[in-house]
This record gives sequence, C-alpha cells and structure tokens, in this order.
Amino acid sequence: MPRVKKKGSNKKAKTVVKGAKAKKSKKSSVVTYGGYNYIDKNYKPSKEDFVVWMWMKGEKPLPILAEAVAAESSVGTFTKIKTMNKRVFTHYRAHVFEVLPVQDNAGFVKIAYPFEHFDAKNLLQFEASVLGNIFGMLELDELYVIDIAFPKKFQRYFSGPIGLNAIRKYLGTDKNKRPHVGTIVKPKVGLTPKEFAHVAYEAYIGGLDLVKDDENLVDQPFCPWKKRFDEVYAALDKVETKTGEKKLYATNISDISLERMLDRLDYVAESGAKMIMLDVFVAGPAVVKMIAEEAHRKGLFVHAHRAGYAAMHRGRYGYSFGILAKLYRLLGVDQLHVGTGVGKMDGSPTLIRHFGSIVRDRKLKESWFPFSLSMEYEKHVAKTFPVASGGLHAGLVEGVVEIFGTDVIIQAGGGVHGHPRGTRAGAESLRAAAEAAAKGISIKTAAKRNKALKEAIDHFGFVPREHVRAMLNFGSRNKKTLEAMIRKGGYDVARMFDKTLDPRGD
Ligand code: 3PG
Repeated sequence: MPRVKKKGSNKKAKTVVKGAKAKKSKKSSVVTYGGYNYIDKNYKPSKEDFVVWMWMKGEKPLPILAEAVAAESSVGTFTKIKTMNKRVFTHYRAHVFEVLPVQDNAGFVKIAYPFEHFDAKNLLQFEASVLGNIFGMLELDELYVIDIAFPKKFQRYFSGPIGLNAIRKYLGTDKNKRPHVGTIVKPKVGLTPKEFAHVAYEAYIGGLDLVKDDENLVDQPFCPWKKRFDEVYAALDKVETKTGEKKLYATNISDISLERMLDRLDYVAESGAKMIMLDVFVAGPAVVKMIAEEAHRKGLFVHAHRAGYAAMHRGRYGYSFGILAKLYRLLGVDQLHVGTGVGKMDGSPTLIRHFGSIVRDRKLKESWFPFSLSMEYEKHVAKTFPVASGGLHAGLVEGVVEIFGTDVIIQAGGGVHGHPRGTRAGAESLRAAAEAAAKGISIKTAAKRNKALKEAIDHFGFVPREHVRAMLNFGSRNKKTLEAMIRKGGYDVARMFDKTLDPRGD
C-alpha cells in the first residue's frame, strides 16, 4: 500500500513515549521513524546485548534510515501506534548507538539489541528480527550487515562442534598437525556408484584424507545414495587396511525430507563410518542444528558445504558470510567451507583468513579491515575445521597455508582429477604440497623430488607464498590508512580491497 506523506511529517519529532524518551543529542533529536527515537549515542551496549554493524544507503538522511532499521527489526513500524507502552519501548527496543555518515544518505551504523528482545533458544526468531524485514524496506537502496557479535549468554543455547581437535585425533594428525587434504569427486554428478567409488579409491590411495560428494549430488537415479555409500565405504576400508591411515568420506545426506536424512545418518553410523555432509545454507539453521546434534550423539562429524551463501554475502542487500560462519560453528558444524583467498570463490586472503579465525579462534578483535566486531566464544564452543575449497590445486597450496596456517582442510576437485596423469597422481601432488608447505618447504623445491607435484605445477601453475604474504601484509601494515579510507569512502572502498587473488588471471 503506498504511503501518503503527511504534511509536516519530516518535522522535528516530539517525544512519544512518556518516560521512555531517548536521551537527546542535538543530532539524534531531529529524526524519528514511526514516531519513536531509537538513536541514543550515549548508549553503551551491555555484555548481554547483540551488537550489529551495518552499512546502509537510501532515499533519506542516514539517521532516518538507521531509525527505520532499528524500528522494523525490533518493536516499531512505519507509524506511531496506540499500543506502544513504556515497558515495551524501554526493554525491547533496539538502540542505535553509533552513526557514521559517509554521505548524507549513507553510512555505517551500529545497533544494540537487548537480550530480552529475543527467544534466545530459537535462532529463527533472531534471524527474522535482525536479518529479516529490513532488507525489503523501500527507504533502503543498500543494506549490508557487516557483522554481528553474539553474547555468551546466547551461545549457551548451542552445543557447538565436536571439532577440529577430535578430527585430528581420529585421523592421527594431532601430533604432526599437517593440513588435511581432500577431494570432491568430479564430474559433480553423473558417475555411477562404481565409477564414483573407483575415483574415491584412487584419491585415498594417492594420499588424501577426505573424499566428499559435491553439493549437488545426493540420491539421483544414476547414483543412488545407499549404493554409492556402500561402494565408497568399501573402497575406504580397503585403503585403510592397505595404508594403515584413517580416511573420511563426507556423504551428502541433504534432503527436503527429515526422515530420509535421519535414515541416512543412522545408516552411516551403523556402518561404522565417521562423517556426513550437509548443504547447510540451503538446509537452513533448524535442520543444521537438528542433524548436527543427532550426528554428534552418534559420534559422527559434520562436513558443511555452504552452496548458496553468496546470495546473501555478495550483494548490496545481505550479510557477510562471517555471520553465517559464526552461526554454523555454534550450530555444531565440524568442517566448514570458508573460501580460499587464492582460488575460484570470492574473498581476499585477508577476508578469508578472518573467516578462518571466526571458526577456529576464541576471541575476535574489533577491526575495519577486515570488518570485525569484538566477540568471545563461550568455553564449550570447540573449533570448527576451516575448509579451503574452490579452484585449488597443488600450486596454490603454499598460499593457502600462508592464509590459514596448517589448521586447514585443503580440497581440490578439478585440481586433483584434472592432473595430467589422473586422480591418483593429483592426490599425490596435493598431499606432497601440503606436507611441504606445513614444513615451510617451498612447493617448487618439493617438486624437484616429487614427479606428481612437478607435473601438477607445470600443468596448473603456481602462486608463491610470498605473493599471498604480500597481500596479507598490505592489509595488516595499512590497517589505519584503510580504515580511514573506508570511513570516508564507504562500503564500496572496502569491496575494492576485497579482491580474491585469482590465479587464472583476468
Ligand atoms: C567444492 O565443493 O568446493 C567445489 O566443488 C570445488 O571444486 P573444484 O576444486 O573443482 O573447484
């Protein structure tokens, strides 16, 4: 329904809730949205508040946009309502406590939401509030939620992952701490169970720790889930016996039917396998929570593919993948795709390093480059293993290790099965590259002693560690300058510096 602009509606607003008047600063008193003040620059978020950092741009002055977002995402609406009362406004409304204009109608805003506003046991209610209606508001041409700091009190409602250390222990890499290496069987779909399992066998025997289904392979008629699982698990078993190394198979159980997912999960657990895979973004948080908890009860790890995330993350309306990464960790994902910094998916080395830190570290520091609010995880929240996947091959491995350190799973599909001598040699090249990078040996040097590795870098190319380090150093050495540029130029400036190192060239 079109809104009719009332005469004088842009005039200085009066306080509308008796006794619940926001503390007035000269600037904050000039605007209201729906008749109430949400801007309170003197407000200090408490340790139980949710803090949300946003970029917004629209048709109206920035403070009005900020009020609009705060209202719509907490207690208000487009107009003054007779049903508002002091208790509601005092206890449940959002507080806009920082407004940083870049232009009159655009800028960075921080909003704090009181814990009491939320049904804390229910993440869907949180998302519907803070990541909900606001993206559709007519006033806004751009709305990007940069980060959210989740209070510890909220985190207690989540059990978190079994995690990185448990996976290392299972695979026996808890002492040498080398990166794990894996592959996504390609072609993405189309192989029969036998063909698929043969590729898996070759990958395992070539030295990979993990084989996984692709995000779009579940239970198609040409490759029924159960048949594929049985065949791959038999191949895995054979290689474990032959090599004495433990292996993992991330079998994709994603489905619209909870019943089918749970049946598959049970089948995996009863077979003695250790991992399932879920397309977490398309599944949605309720499914992720339920499946992760059930998987953990049965001693299974959860490998999470994030296909679809970029619809939220890359546009001018949406939110950073960093927010999803925090949630997936809390929801109990044990391995999460977070990007590569040097491959085919979006994100600069600096941003991808930050996503790695979101899933592994306990404390996150406030920063403008990369954007980050300070936040600390509750003690019970274990580390999720970051997965670097998308366009990788052996020649990029030392760059990946430069970004993440060695606590990373390096996965390559095309980079393994596209090796000139096929999957087994591709797997050998990836394992050799990861072992060399972990010891600080250059891939070029390691390639002198490893034929498969030499062939891989001759075929796919090579990006030296120093190149990636220079990009990371640019970010860390110029933090202050970049912050000043972003504060002045807005979100577009941050995007400009957030380019992936694309080894395929322009
Ligand atoms: C993934 O699941 O991350 C992609 O399928 C990776 O495939 P690629 O290594 O061939 O890019």
